[in-house]
Amino acid sequence: LDNGLMRTPPMGWLAWERYRCDIDCDNDPKNCISETLFRDMADRLAEDGWRELGYTYVNIDDCWSSKKRDGKGRLQPDPKRFPGGIPELARYVHDRGLLLGIYGDLGTFTCMGYPGTTLDNIETDAQTFADWGIDMLKFDGCYSNATEQEKGYPLMSKALNATGRPIGYSCSWPAYQGGLPPKVNYTQLGEICNLWRNYGDIQDSWDSVLNIVDWFFNHQDILQTTAGPGRWNDPDMLVIGDFGLSLDQSRSQMALWAIMAAPLFMSNDLRTLNSEARTILQNKAVIAINQDKMGVQGRRLLKEKSEIEVFWRPLSNSDSALVFFSRRSDMPYRYTTSLGKLNYKAGSYKVYDVFSEKLMPGLSDTTDFTVSINPSGVVMWYISPLVPLSFRQNY
Ligand code: DGJ
Repeated sequence: LDNGLMRTPPMGWLAWERYRCDIDCDNDPKNCISETLFRDMADRLAEDGWRELGYTYVNIDDCWSSKKRDGKGRLQPDPKRFPGGIPELARYVHDRGLLLGIYGDLGTFTCMGYPGTTLDNIETDAQTFADWGIDMLKFDGCYSNATEQEKGYPLMSKALNATGRPIGYSCSWPAYQGGLPPKVNYTQLGEICNLWRNYGDIQDSWDSVLNIVDWFFNHQDILQTTAGPGRWNDPDMLVIGDFGLSLDQSRSQMALWAIMAAPLFMSNDLRTLNSEARTILQNKAVIAINQDKMGVQGRRLLKEKSEIEVFWRPLSNSDSALVFFSRRSDMPYRYTTSLGKLNYKAGSYKVYDVFSEKLMPGLSDTTDFTVSINPSGVVMWYISPLVPLSFRQNY
């Protein structure tokens, strides 16, 4: 969507995967969906170095609202859990240099049974969000049919634009259409949404991450070209720092999300995050790859019989990223190849290993190298031509 927003994939924090529909503030005050949770996360994003790295969105998901609209038919937050109201929360977030996202659902109810946005209140809800100072809307699709979605998703896009407030627009529409053409029209999505959920929900497990990775790369020929500045495929939240992923699996999620040019929304507890997870999520090289200005989504180049897969993403200034990923479950696998075999042009390259943070000064396209890839882990490289493009005469 050409609204000037999200020219690189949006980054921040989103409540759903980790906090779900926990509304039991009496017994679980620190983790329930309440203004406290979002203020806590805003504090952490602002004070622990996240904001400077680009993690600027604090996003509310389902279960924030009251079960009833107000007297004027507007959505309203649950009064017990959001006693200050959303405008005050937005101010709190904005005062810290961050942005506030909210959740709505096209349909009679949200997935968890809160008031939905039917076709007749799209304009009211868009205006309410704008009046509150909201910066992004995730628009879910439970309890609506295909015809309503056909009308509703474009209508919300128009309604948000008509408010005059810049509001990033995340559409769950394709996820409800099965994610693939001809049902999904990716050209249209790119025109009306800044990002879209193509596929099912992520869970806190490696199985779930793998399932998502498989779907996105098995359909890369369809998906890759639909992404670009202002319009992104969204494979769902990062679950790094939660309970289900090992250290290697956490690096793998981060690396593959960067290759996919995916939005980076963490769903974790930033108050208690361990240092390994923090180091991965705050890795500047992997963030730079994810946030590359050219905005070209990467691809899987190879699936080897050895269960090693190679992924590649072209970056600005003739730079690029490679990921060597192991699906094995035995031991670190020594994989040998050369840049030439991975379609690199003749020449010498400077290679930075993103996670070991080591620099290899010069690697020729013809030289075989060996990387050691841990089970369910990755080796990720940031690659630059050694001789700047403008000086090169022969290639
Ligand atoms: C389905 C969405 O895909 C999830 O990300 C989350 O928003 C839930 N609905 C909330 O009910």
